[in-house]
Amino acid sequence: MGLRKMSQFLEFLEFVIVIGTLLSMVEGHVHHYEFVLKETNFTRLCTTKSLLVVNGSLPGPEIRVHKGDTVFVNVYNQGNYGVTLHWHGVKQPRNPWSDGPEYITQCPIQPGKNFTYEVIFSKEEGTLWWHAHSDWTRNSVHGAIVILPAPGTAFPFPQPDGDEVIVFGSWYDSDINTVVEADLQTGADTPYSDSYLINGQAGDLCNCSKGSSHRTLVDQGKTYLLRIVNAVMNADLFFAVAEHNVTVVGMDGNYLKPFTTPYITISPGQTMDVLLLANQSIGRYYMATRQYYSVRADVILYDKSNATAILEYRGNYTSQADPVFPSTLPSYMDFRATDKFLYQLKSLASPEHPVDVPLNISTRMFIVVSMNQILCPNETCMGINGNKLASSLNNISLVNPPIDVLLAYYRNMSGFYTKDFPDHPTSYYNYTADEFPFNVTVPLQGTKVKMLNYNETVEITFQGTDVLNTSATHPMHMHGYSFYVIGSGYGNFDPENEPKGYNLIDPPEMNTVTIPKNGWATIRFVASNPGVWYWHCHFDRHLSWGMSTIFIVKNGDSPETSLREPPANMPRCEVPFTDRIQTFKDSKWRRKQIGNI
Ligand code: C2O
Ligand code: CU
Repeated sequence: MGLRKMSQFLEFLEFVIVIGTLLSMVEGHVHHYEFVLKETNFTRLCTTKSLLVVNGSLPGPEIRVHKGDTVFVNVYNQGNYGVTLHWHGVKQPRNPWSDGPEYITQCPIQPGKNFTYEVIFSKEEGTLWWHAHSDWTRNSVHGAIVILPAPGTAFPFPQPDGDEVIVFGSWYDSDINTVVEADLQTGADTPYSDSYLINGQAGDLCNCSKGSSHRTLVDQGKTYLLRIVNAVMNADLFFAVAEHNVTVVGMDGNYLKPFTTPYITISPGQTMDVLLLANQSIGRYYMATRQYYSVRADVILYDKSNATAILEYRGNYTSQADPVFPSTLPSYMDFRATDKFLYQLKSLASPEHPVDVPLNISTRMFIVVSMNQILCPNETCMGINGNKLASSLNNISLVNPPIDVLLAYYRNMSGFYTKDFPDHPTSYYNYTADEFPFNVTVPLQGTKVKMLNYNETVEITFQGTDVLNTSATHPMHMHGYSFYVIGSGYGNFDPENEPKGYNLIDPPEMNTVTIPKNGWATIRFVASNPGVWYWHCHFDRHLSWGMSTIFIVKNGDSPETSLREPPANMPRCEVPFTDRIQTFKDSKWRRKQIGNI
């Protein structure tokens, strides 16, 4: 190489290094967290019991990052059973290996073992959360994720004076994991919770809970950002603050057009960022949550607790009196309140936070979301009609394979799943009628996945049903993505007329969309994240009964658009290779028999 060439080459090298440094700056900071999972005693509502929690706390520790950062979470399992963790709403570009759902992207971290998750933040900004993704362990294993604007950028609203995470949870007096395991065996309905919790406490109005409420301290005249997470197991919730309106500014890690409201409705899986201006006379005010109940007025067994926390102004005042309860908190079956609230959700759609709704659709799916029954011809089961309760998407009730789908896909192992999840229901019927053909009440059971090409533009319409007279809302959540919710409504979806009303200008972007009771919702997204991604109802009872499916998004044609390599230390599945899909029935119980893996 001549001298001139050499110096050109060196210049080029320098250029590469400078660009490389710039790129790594853009990629953000790296954080490390240690999560120790351990049984710990808690006393709530007059009952003391042991719960599996992270680092001794309920809810678990908060993760705080800036947009674009990466977090390594080293999880030590010191509990008594296998567990996985999921980073709900974090897209994890090309990295399903750290996504978490058991038997979908990994096998459980066994007691005494550890696994380090690499959580890669990209476009998310606002609030998300993390939770266990094995059986019902997420009830006690969850916490918030706060994602601040990237350094050098700002909130799209005036900088608040402070922020605080508000996590809604469920309390069960019983040992929920044991009870649910038995219920899934007998086909019986799963229990409802005994109380809701706000930041781990039921609050003054619940039994044996007086004086234990979580308190949020504020200064008069200041503005606070409340980062609200619905981590309860099976219920949509209302939330309101006495004498204060809130301004909703974000949801599911995306910004919204701000709107002011006296209450919010939030489904499990969803997060909302709301601004609260402390503009009332100094004193104490209840912040309260109760269930938005969408089943049937004659089914009266559900959690009717009013969980409370206290908004407490700093200052000199003697307040013996109880705080005021929010008169604006809607009542259990207030559908109109929910509809009115949801109608106001619109993307911010600003130059800094633009929307990008796909307009030319390459894959269109119509997915029927339904409750079902599995017949018990030779035994008596304890669900509807002496059968087992079940649920399905397009009449397929998902069965977990004995090794995770991601590994089977990556290693090209056949026999663990099939690629025939249908784009349409097997039969069309009047979904919201009172009577049904018998065959639509009984689902097929299997591990059927939907294959998508890289960058495919996807539209899905979800249609709820009233099969077995069990219509309710369904918060549908997708891993690895967020999506635009371009329309929703009640009744049977009308493919002629409903699309005329789609919002393609500023639809809200979510990772969990609530399908209205006996209604439908349509979403769009671009399949630009290769990998294996779980899709499910975020009511755990429905999820346990099979209301889920899996999208496999194929690689693009470059390394940057392809699945990453698996980390070296993935938890092992330890299942005999002779175990194949043909013998799938009741895989959860069967796994027990082949020695819990
Ligand atoms: Cu909160 Cu499968 O998710
Ligand atoms: Cu559901």
